[in-house]
Amino acid sequence: MADHQEIRRNVWLSDAGGVRYHLRALCHRRRRWRAFRDTVATWFAAWRPPCQRLVLVGPSAGHTLPLAQMHGFSEIVALEPDPVARRWLAWRAHHLPLHFDAIDVLSGATPLRPLRTAFPDAAVLFCNVLGQVAPAGGGRWHERLADSLAGHHWASYHDVISTDVRPLAGAGPMSCDARRLETVLERFWPGGQLALVDHETFRLAGPSQPADYALWPLGPDRWHLIEWVVHRPPVGIGPVGAADRTPLTPPPDP
Ligand SMILES: C[S@@+](CC[C@H](N)C(=O)[O-])C[C@H]1O[C@@H](n2cnc3c(N)ncnc32)[C@H](O)[C@@H]1O
Repeated sequence: MADHQEIRRNVWLSDAGGVRYHLRALCHRRRRWRAFRDTVATWFAAWRPPCQRLVLVGPSAGHTLPLAQMHGFSEIVALEPDPVARRWLAWRAHHLPLHFDAIDVLSGATPLRPLRTAFPDAAVLFCNVLGQVAPAGGGRWHERLADSLAGHHWASYHDVISTDVRPLAGAGPMSCDARRLETVLERFWPGGQLALVDHETFRLAGPSQPADYALWPLGPDRWHLIEWVVHRPPVGIGPVGAADRTPLTPPPDP
């Protein structure tokens, strides 16, 4: 129960969701976040899952999403607990076949499992959410994803680390198959000690899957290292099961 309350409070007030996040987006989306948004658009364009339906988990108001590129889907389902974000996203995505569902696929004893059962044929995009929310039952998302979504096409961009240490000038997006986080960090920050928050998502699709990295300058003194990974199901593996649904809980009044 405490975990759920913590998540709700973060949704409303943290830098990663809610009002404070929307204010940051208003300030920085067009200029400071521009290069990062372009990078997410490039990653998304290269993904091309062979699915008619797309599920967006944690899209917020789509501040960093390439909505203009989402035309190819016959249905887009957004799972987002923030009511302000939902309204804003609905307005921004009015040209898309987008609707909202109140199912919470990140909480409960078996998080992610509801995605498999409620959206068996859909591709899933985790929209910078898995580095913000921990699995309710403990552990890491790596194992949950491998257990529950092996038969799905899914992709995720997510925080790997965040820090207030300025990165190297000109450190741009890159692909990297390094097994050690330190190896990736060396490409973005000068050597030596780096004070950081580890979001425990490094190599989220598993060590054998390639990953891409880019910097997201959240604000003037805060940088997030974002990872992009893609999972394609092995031929012959598909999801099965009946739907179990936990409703998304809206954030409390501030
Ligand atoms: C960093 S923001 C996402 C940013 C977004 N991709 C963008 O383009 O601006 C994380 C989002 O995850 C959402 N979130 C938190 N818990 C969630 C849950 N259980 N299911 C779906 N979304 C959730 C938050 O409301 C917030 O909008």
